[in-house]
Parts: sequence; C-alpha cells; structure tokens
Amino acid sequence: MDKFIVMGGARLTGEISVSGAKNAILPIMAASLLTAGKSTLFNIPIIKDVLVMQKVMEYLGAKVSITGNVMYIDSDGVEPREIGENLMRQLRASNLVIGSLLSRFRKIKVAFPGGCNIGSRPMDLHMKGLAALGTKITERYGFIEAEATNLHGAEIHLDFPSVGATENLMMAATLAEGTTIIRNAAKEPEIVDLQNYLNGLGARVKGAGLDTIKIEGVKKLGSVEHTIIPDRIEAGTHLVAAAITGGDVLVTDIIPDHLEPVIAKLKEAEVKITRYNESVRVVAPGRVKAVDFKTMPYPGFPTDMQPQLMALLTIADGTSVVAESIFENRFKHIDELRRMGASIKLEGKVAIIKGVPTLSGAFVEATDLRAGAALVLAGLAAEDATVIENVEYIDRGYERLESKYNALGARIMRVNNSRNGS
Ligand code: EPZ
Repeated sequence: MDKFIVMGGARLTGEISVSGAKNAILPIMAASLLTAGKSTLFNIPIIKDVLVMQKVMEYLGAKVSITGNVMYIDSDGVEPREIGENLMRQLRASNLVIGSLLSRFRKIKVAFPGGCNIGSRPMDLHMKGLAALGTKITERYGFIEAEATNLHGAEIHLDFPSVGATENLMMAATLAEGTTIIRNAAKEPEIVDLQNYLNGLGARVKGAGLDTIKIEGVKKLGSVEHTIIPDRIEAGTHLVAAAITGGDVLVTDIIPDHLEPVIAKLKEAEVKITRYNESVRVVAPGRVKAVDFKTMPYPGFPTDMQPQLMALLTIADGTSVVAESIFENRFKHIDELRRMGASIKLEGKVAIIKGVPTLSGAFVEATDLRAGAALVLAGLAAEDATVIENVEYIDRGYERLESKYNALGARIMRVNNSRNGS
C-alpha cells in the first residue's frame, strides 16, 4: 500500500476544481445494467471505486470504456451471472447491481457484500423493499438469491432513509409492472442524479430529493447521455483544507446548494465563506471557533464529512461535541488524530474534542476513505511531517488528492510501498 508524507505548515491558496460525485456515478453505473442500450457519462471521477465497479460490470458482460473523464457503457451483452464474494467484497456499492439485474432479468445470485470499517452495513431495508415488489429472496451460504418472476409495483415505507436501499428500489421498480411509491426515501442529491439518469433512459421516476418517490414501471429503456453531478463531499473536504491551513481557496465546479449543511457549520466556526453560482471561496480566520454537530440524513450534516470536520475542530478555539448517528463505527480516525496530539474523548457515539494549539506530525494510518482524508487535513496543519499509511483508501474516493493540494501550496509526497519497489 502507498503512503503519503505530508509536510505541515503550508497555507493553501488558489483555485481547486472538484470531480464528479463518487456516490452518484456508482449507482448510475449499476443502473446502466437495466437497459440493453448505451450510456455515455460525462464528468466521471477517475477513482478506484469506479474502476472496481467497471470490473464488476465487465464481468457481467457490459462493455465499459473510459476516455478522459467520459465513460462509455454498452449493456447489450449483460447476463445475470453469479457474482462471487471476491468482487462483492472489493466494493460495498456493488450491492447496487441487485436492483437493476433483478428488474431486467428477474433472477440473480450475488455474494453478500459484507461490512466495512465503518459498520456492519446490513441490507435488511433493501431486502424488505424488494420482497414488497414481489421478489422471493433466499440468503444462505453467504449468498443472496433473488427471483421475481412477477415483479410488480408496491407501496414501500423505509424504516430509515437509506441511500442504497432507496437507489436499489428505484432501479428494481423501473421495469416492474405498475406503480411503486417509496416513502421516507433518502433525499441526497445523488438520488436526484440517479432519477435524472433513469428518466434519460426512458424511465418514469418522480419526487427524488423529497420524502416520497414515485416510479411508474416501463417496458423498455433506451440510451442516454448524462453528466454526473459534482462531488459535494470532495468539495466539503477542500473547504476544510482551506480552513485548517488558514488559507484562502476558491473551490470550483460545484453546486453550492449541495454543500449547504457544511457551509452553515463552517460559518458557525467563523470561517469566512462566499458563495458564487458554481464555486465557493473560503478565507480562514486565525483560529476557527469550536462547534457542535450531529450527522444526519440529507439535508442534515453529512456523515461523510464527519472525520474531516473533526480534524479541523482538534485545533479550534474551545470544546466541540460531535455525534455520529448514521454509522455505528465511524470514529476510527480518533485514535490516529490522538497520535498527532488531538485531545478527544469518546463516549459511545459522541466525541468531545478539546481544541489544542497545534497538532504534531506522527505516523498514522488511514482506516477508511473519509478517515484517510481527515488525516491528510490534519497533516496539512500539523508541525513537521505526518506519514499516512494505506492511502489506497483515499484513492477510492478522491482523484489525485495530493496533486490537487500541492497545486495550492501543500507539500505531500506519495511513496510507493510495493515490495518490488516498482
Ligand atoms: C451511502 O452508503 C454512501 N455510499 C456512503 O458513503 C454514505 O456514508 C451513506 O450512503 C450515508 O449517506 C454510496 O453512496 C456508494 P445507507 P449506504 O444505506 O447506501 C443502515 C463514502 O464515504 N442500513 O444510507 O450504504 C446502515 O448500516 C461512503 O463515500 C440498515 O440498517 O448508506 C447505516 O448505519 C461511506 N439497513 C445507515 O443505515 C439497510 O438495509 C445508512 O446507510 C441499509 C442501511
């Protein structure tokens, strides 16, 4: 696994652009399996998760090619092949192919995707919804076998606004007979992007972004060209990078509305933020103020920004209280931040962060994607050098993060750790 050596102390200044959203492209790639037609996707991020999802799709018989930031998909040759543990474990989001394969082929067998470092990631809400659509599901020997000879519309109420369950059920309902209503649906912007993509194929989906989504089943889907929305979590990470280094940065190619909960919290911390049409400028104060926050489903504060904001609060003026309400195990970055001198107490799912004057460089390791990003941010602000192991986690969701920050004045070196030194 590669590592980063981050020299702290540089103030980030300049302009940084944001790539397409990881959590929009992954469900849309899964949805492209619904049709025998072609999909052309613009503004795609070249990140590890996309390349793994490409492998899953090619295994199923789709033709997928990438030129620059454009992806060409031809799903004519797709078959509902059994997807084994190896592929399913590599990428949790591969569970999103269940809805589209079931909708098109009515029968699938996939290995259970399993948990990851931030939680057990069950799929009970996905399964309950698919059963309501007429799917017979058997879970045994680590596999999910699903059959839906008569896939029909249904009224589904999600116990929790799960992003993945909402997406899987939207895809499953697209080719079902009749109308499906999903209540208490997730409202993330990526759900709206999926709806727009599906409707571009000829589906009839309405209400994404609100609590209730209505899908009228259609018989056939065609082809589409679609541009992926910007990544609001990558953008939020850059806002914090500017704030934690006392910098002055313009974050471009974004939809500021999608960042509202993060912008509001940073303003509360006395970070100076100016919103433009497709960009946001961050001018950091001398030292940010401590703030409290709790992660919530959109439009609440996003759990995917919790580690990054926590990194900033470790050197804030005052004490902050952070509650993680979405995942049961998303505080693994706390131990690593403590190694850098952070003063954090953990009480169950609540972290109490007492601001310290400064962090110091240390040997730390990324334990998951967003925790890794948080350690880069902490390293940018820390004195001396921070060595971050397992940066492959970071590469899963960020395109060339070190190059983007070095262009703003950071000093991050990627060291290739592979044994043969290649
Ligand atoms: C999506 O994961 C995102 N991933 C996650 O981003 C994000 O953190 C999460 O939504 C919440 O916003 C992608 O979109 C690829 P959920 P997903 O279903 O769909 C529980 C990142 O860093 N739950 O909304 O898996 C679940 O255990 C990643 O980019 C059930 O209990 O999230 C979790 O506690 C991390 N049963 C909570 O709901 C279910 O059937 C939220 O999960 C499904 C979920």
